[in-house]
Amino acid sequence: MKEPYHLIEETAGEHLYCACGRSKNKPYCDGSHGGTGISPWRIQLPAPRTLKICGCTKSGIGPFCDDSHLGKKS
Ligand code: FES
Repeated sequence: MKEPYHLIEETAGEHLYCACGRSKNKPYCDGSHGGTGISPWRIQLPAPRTLKICGCTKSGIGPFCDDSHLGKKS
């Protein structure tokens, strides 16, 4: 079962999040997207921040959760 989202305290710097649903290290990309044609979501944070990261891969604003897992947009 896919998790709806991951609430994480993230460090500053570049981060790659899984957009394909295959990673064994969610919400982070572990390279398992190879061959799918899907690229990970990439963000650059200037400072540490708490993030609500998409866990269902349906978000329209990935890597951030937009409540698509609820079947509606926020
Ligand atoms: S493992 Fe899912 S996008 Fe990289």
